[in-house]
Amino acid sequence: MTGLPMTVPADGLPARVRIHEVGARDGLQNEKSAVPTEVKAEFIHRLAAAGLTTIEATSFVHPKWVPQLADAEELMPRLRDLGHVALPVLVPNERGLERALALGATRIAVFGSATETFAARNLNRTVAESLAMFEPVVARAKAAADGPVHVRGYLSMCFGDPWEGPVPVDQVVRVAKALLDLGCDELSLGDTIGVATPGHVRTLLAALDQQGVTTDRIGVHFHDTYGQALSNTLAALQHGVTTVDASAGGLGGCPYAKSATGNLATEDLVWMLDGLGIETGVDLAALTATSVWMAERLGRPSPSRTVRALSPKE
Ligand code: HMG
Ligand code: MG
Repeated sequence: MTGLPMTVPADGLPARVRIHEVGARDGLQNEKSAVPTEVKAEFIHRLAAAGLTTIEATSFVHPKWVPQLADAEELMPRLRDLGHVALPVLVPNERGLERALALGATRIAVFGSATETFAARNLNRTVAESLAMFEPVVARAKAAADGPVHVRGYLSMCFGDPWEGPVPVDQVVRVAKALLDLGCDELSLGDTIGVATPGHVRTLLAALDQQGVTTDRIGVHFHDTYGQALSNTLAALQHGVTTVDASAGGLGGCPYAKSATGNLATEDLVWMLDGLGIETGVDLAALTATSVWMAERLGRPSPSRTVRALSPKE
């Protein structure tokens, strides 16, 4: 066993995929107890050393809503040596933007919902009110004194919602377009509770295409609740998507969405992409070692199949 898959390329897939690593944010926001700031900083440094170039670092949300990330002000200065890495941060409102800009953030993400119930639970707003909340955030980010800040627009509950059930494709397309109309540079389609299947992914991407939202502006963000995240990713790659969100070791979930488990594990993704000969720049052994190290800090094994397979003693 070499620790790497045999490379056998397949037709109709991109040559390179950009992995948007979310473990430090989506992963750690869901831990029962807050991880010490030094451990978060070391985690992010190890992820960067493993070759990840986009690492979502933290959130500037209300500390009472997500206490696990209440140390954003302490964490960001510890990442100043990572100038070569994109370190996006979540920002829900102008207060969050001000906090992020004061710490030198150059990439932010606003996060909307395709459903009313999740918008209310996650942002204390209706869908329309949350878009109105994001509008000045995006405008001010684009006009920032040190140059335009890159803005990602997350869209949650793109496939199903734990309270509302299946989410109609046209409802998702409507909010997706509204986020892009605000000026977001890219859109990340969230399967927050992991219920999507590949046909549904292709149908949504085709519907977005038809409305002029091309795949070069789209990332996919799959949670792995039903073990579908990798199949859904392959479906998205076949459709031309080249930005994939993943979480080292499969950490994650959302504290405001019942039944959200961890994201697609970055190691499982890299194993598949390595096997397909798709470039990511990530060193799988170094990444796996990072997730084993983090699992030790969290006191439980990583849920990633690849991490477990490559570290049988874990
Ligand atoms: P609210 O209670 O409506 O806040 O929460 P408000 O606007 O009424 O303000 C109340 C007080 O909070 C004010 O203070 C504000 O200054 C303060 P006061 O004047 O009363 O002293 N405040 C803040 N303080 C610090 N930082 C801030 C901030 N904003 C207001 N940014 C709010 C509204 C949006 C703030 C709240 O709902 C919130 O923080 N939500 C965050 C929830 C969250 O982070 N969820 C997880 C991320 S989303 C996710 O995981 C899904 C994703 O992974 C994709 C997927 O899987 O689908 C992205
Ligand atoms: Mg998520």
